[in-house]
Amino acid sequence: MNDFKKITDLKPANLIGKRVLVRVDFNVPLEKGQVVDDFRIQRSLPTIKFLQETGAKVILISHMGSGEDTLKPVALYLNKYLPIIFSNKVLDFEAVKDLNNGEVLLLENLRQHEGEASNNEAFAKELASLGEIYINEAFSASHRAHASIVGVSRLLPSYAGLLFVEEYENLSKVFNAPKPFTVIIGGAKFSTKLPVIKKLAPFSDNIFLGGALVHVLWKKMGYEVGQSLVDESVTDLDDILKLKNVHLPQDVVVQGEDGGKLNKLPDQVGSEDVISDAGPKTVGAIIKSIKEAKFTFWNGPLGFIEKGFMGSSQEIVEAIGKSDAYSIVGGGDTVGVINSLKAFDNFDFVSTAGGASLEFIASGTLVGIEVLKNK
Ligand code: 3PG
Repeated sequence: MNDFKKITDLKPANLIGKRVLVRVDFNVPLEKGQVVDDFRIQRSLPTIKFLQETGAKVILISHMGSGEDTLKPVALYLNKYLPIIFSNKVLDFEAVKDLNNGEVLLLENLRQHEGEASNNEAFAKELASLGEIYINEAFSASHRAHASIVGVSRLLPSYAGLLFVEEYENLSKVFNAPKPFTVIIGGAKFSTKLPVIKKLAPFSDNIFLGGALVHVLWKKMGYEVGQSLVDESVTDLDDILKLKNVHLPQDVVVQGEDGGKLNKLPDQVGSEDVISDAGPKTVGAIIKSIKEAKFTFWNGPLGFIEKGFMGSSQEIVEAIGKSDAYSIVGGGDTVGVINSLKAFDNFDFVSTAGGASLEFIASGTLVGIEVLKNK
């Protein structure tokens, strides 16, 4: 049971002609001004279409990257699925006034306004005045105490969207995961993963660490990491190294001089090496644990995917696909790998959230959830 109101609590008849302000997360990867990964957009469509078909006046608000970026490519992309009116203003009162029932307006990148990130009260009031009802469909941005997540929600009748509820319910399953429970944590930024590892360690059976985040641990243990990426921002590593169910890679793949791939044991890594993926022994141990598990949670690729080191991630995707365990995966880069392999069906739940999913698991809540609960 969720203790916040959901879009499904609204009577469709009461939505006809209502101005509904929907906070979505259209912060999606772009290349040369084109959307290259539409996962978040696709997952937001059911809420948008429901409101549109019900006859509401739908006002979509989102951020995109930093304050410099524009949502115009997303508007062009969305037009494939439903007619979108795009405004290049963050606050466009005229465009909202002109909306007919069932029309959908997308406003410009919220972060172009300095009041968004600072949760400025006056900006939140102006944003809120655009709508009569607020829907948070941006679970993946709900760790940000920004005006569009927190400020507006305090001012309007507020509900969680369909995707928001799915994210909340599925990620909450991690807290009661049936055992054996296997966790795989990769990626580069150890600082963002450390609270999750600490939270899950007491009730998971195996936590496999991979990716560049491991390198700082290896340095601490006295191993050579060569020219590999190291997240030095975390210094308090002793607790993690003491945990018996936390496993570091047994072997790695390094980039060979000729562009090839070499398997090495941790003590064979040289001063010029770039560690780029988990080795076969490591992947074998992870796959064994996935096979035995009743629940699997994965966040962060184990390889340097930008340089094409997808091997370990691909094997993990396949192993999870074959397993009967309930599987949850999250994180922008991990979803990017799954997208490139067209393997969404291998998982029970693929989260649209990166940082927000980590923060939710580490703390059990998010600012955007708390504000909905307090309504
Ligand atoms: C994300 O991509 O994780 C969310 O859209 C949040 O973006 P942010 O880290 O720029 O706040």
